[in-house]
Amino acid sequence: MESKFDVASVRKQFPILEQKVYGQPLVYLDNAATTQKPRSVVKRIEDAYFGQNANVHRAVHLLSQQATEAHEAARVEVQHFINAAESDEIIFTRGTTESINLVAFSFGEAFCREGDEILISSMEHHSNIVPWQMLCERKKMHLKVIPIDDNGCLLFDEYAKLLSPKVKLLAITHVSNVLGVENPLRQMIELAHSQGIPVLVDGAQAVAHMSVDVQALDADFYAFSSHKIFGPTGVGVLYAKRNLLEQMPPYQGGGEMIDQVHFEKTTYNKIPFKFEAGTPDFIGTAALAEALRFVEEIGLDKIAEHEKQLLDYALEKLNQVKGFQLIGKIPERHAIVPFLLKGIHSYDVGLLLDKLGIAVRTGSHCAQPLLERLGMDTCVRASFAFYNTTEDIDRLQAALNRIGNMFN
Ligand code: ALA
Repeated sequence: MESKFDVASVRKQFPILEQKVYGQPLVYLDNAATTQKPRSVVKRIEDAYFGQNANVHRAVHLLSQQATEAHEAARVEVQHFINAAESDEIIFTRGTTESINLVAFSFGEAFCREGDEILISSMEHHSNIVPWQMLCERKKMHLKVIPIDDNGCLLFDEYAKLLSPKVKLLAITHVSNVLGVENPLRQMIELAHSQGIPVLVDGAQAVAHMSVDVQALDADFYAFSSHKIFGPTGVGVLYAKRNLLEQMPPYQGGGEMIDQVHFEKTTYNKIPFKFEAGTPDFIGTAALAEALRFVEEIGLDKIAEHEKQLLDYALEKLNQVKGFQLIGKIPERHAIVPFLLKGIHSYDVGLLLDKLGIAVRTGSHCAQPLLERLGMDTCVRASFAFYNTTEDIDRLQAALNRIGNMFN
């Protein structure tokens, strides 16, 4: 079984997938941690460093103008990719984590007071927990947590009960990095907005797998990382509605975010630059734009269809493995299979899979409270991207059978 989508030709764009690990052809199933990069993205980085490297927004010379144009064109590319209303609502950061920290600080300064509440869910990644804990500590606020059921699905009625005038923001993941479950964002945002509560969405695990429209969602903030969507590391995006950004103070001080600096008083630049202190990673942003073009050329609909077929195939094959325990019975999963192999520690499974050429992630996946809630310390996670194949799944199935036989 293989979808109409031409995986073989797509894979040729990812040289890393051709390599061998311990003498075995690499099967890369750790895409939720980071994705591989196509040739065009790496070429964009090389071309920029060798042909266009100059600091942006600072000089009148040609190279600086070209670099500035590429950096600002990347902002527009991101705007279109997530259908933001305007490019000024796109802020470049170092990644999802920095995007969330920026909001936790600046939104917190502008809108939060002692006794207020921030609402998150039990399935959040640490980067959508800790910045809010820090805000709550700083401002003497309270962090409230929406519970999930035993399968890892959010309990909507419990969510509704937690909303109150004290809640200043809901911060929620689009797709869980451990379970692959998608939250009912539209309904959640609609309900939050009906009570005047803005919503931040952690989109790190969504953008590479489905088409995201921040205006259709009516998200107030949407954060994601370049490296999880086939772009370079160290670059991230924060989408935010203009009216919120304009009311929020800067996150960091330095060059670029200023208008006038005098020892008596400094005035700040307009958005988005107010939130981009220092030299931005302008080569990284241009390469991110290249990654987004790559994804758009394939088409997110085709990607989603291929990944759904892979997921169905994986669940069918892996359920045949003796001792395989899928975590969470979720109606609609995205590209992630979390599991245990009965009687074998997940670190052992991960290490042995690695020796057989298969890269997966093991551990608590930067989501310790979620694992605790599900009654476990660690699990194994296989996560897909559009370049994965049914042969990859067959290799995983065979390797798990072999590991099971070794232990029994
Ligand atoms: N957030 C990344 C993961 O889920 C690192 O693996």
